[in-house]
Amino acid sequence: MNVIKVKNYDEMSEKATELIVNRINTLENPVLGLATGSTPEGLYQRIIKKYDQGEVSFKNVTTFNLDEYVGLDKDDSNSYYYFMKEKLFRHVDIAMDHVHVPNGVASDLEKECVEHERAIEQAGGVDVQVLGIGGNGHIGFNEPGTPFSSKTHVVDLDQSTIQANARFFNSIDEVPTQAVSMGIETIMNSKEILLLVSGEAKADAMAKLLNGEVSEDFPASILKQHDNVTVIVDEAALTVAE
Ligand code: F6R
Repeated sequence: MNVIKVKNYDEMSEKATELIVNRINTLENPVLGLATGSTPEGLYQRIIKKYDQGEVSFKNVTTFNLDEYVGLDKDDSNSYYYFMKEKLFRHVDIAMDHVHVPNGVASDLEKECVEHERAIEQAGGVDVQVLGIGGNGHIGFNEPGTPFSSKTHVVDLDQSTIQANARFFNSIDEVPTQAVSMGIETIMNSKEILLLVSGEAKADAMAKLLNGEVSEDFPASILKQHDNVTVIVDEAALTVAE
C-alpha cells in the first residue's frame, strides 16, 4: 500500500481529487467505483468544482457504487442513490444510464446482486475504486467475518455500523439492518483502489490496518494484498498508529 500522510480532511480530499481527475482524464472510458458516507464528500465537492472550471468531464465515465440499504428506494433521502445524485451526479455531465447503484428495493435481491456483478464485468471492471473504512474495518458493507471470496451480496449490518450511521436518520430505529454490498473479491478485482481515512474515530482501524495481520476479522486488511492501493490518511487518523 502506498500510504500518503496529509494534515487534515481538506488536504485528503484535495489529494484524492487530483488522483481521480487524473484517472478520468487519462483513461479512455473510465470506470469508477464510488463510496458514500462522510469521507468522500469533500472529494465530490472538489470534483464538481473542477467540472465547473472545465477541467474534467464525466461524459465517458461509468460508475458503480459499493452499496445500498435494503428497503430504501432511489427517492428516499437516506438512500445511497439519492446521496450520489445530490452530492455528485446532478452537478456533472454524467449519463445517468452509466450510473449503477444497487437497487435496495429489488423484488429479487439475489438477482440484483448478480446483475451488479455482471454490469461491472460488462464495463470491463472497475478502474479505480474509492473506499472509506468503518471503525470495525469494514469496506463497502463487508462486516468482520465476511469471506474474502465474497461477491456482491446481501449483508446484515453490524450493530456498530447501524449506530455509526444513525446520525443520518431521525432515529436509530429507522436505520436499515441490511444492505446490498459489493463483496470483498469484487473490491479486490478493481485495478486500482483509493482508500480515504480521516479523523480520530478511524485511528484504531488505521492502526490495525497498518500493523495488524491479514484476516477476515478485519476486512480492510485484505487491501495489503492488492498491488495498486493508495491510502490517503490524515494526522487525526494516525494518532494511534504512530
Ligand atoms: C459507504 C461504505 C462504507 C463507508 C464507511 C465509512 O458506501 O461503503 O464502507 O465508507 O462506513 O463511512 P464514513 O465515511 O461515513 O465514515
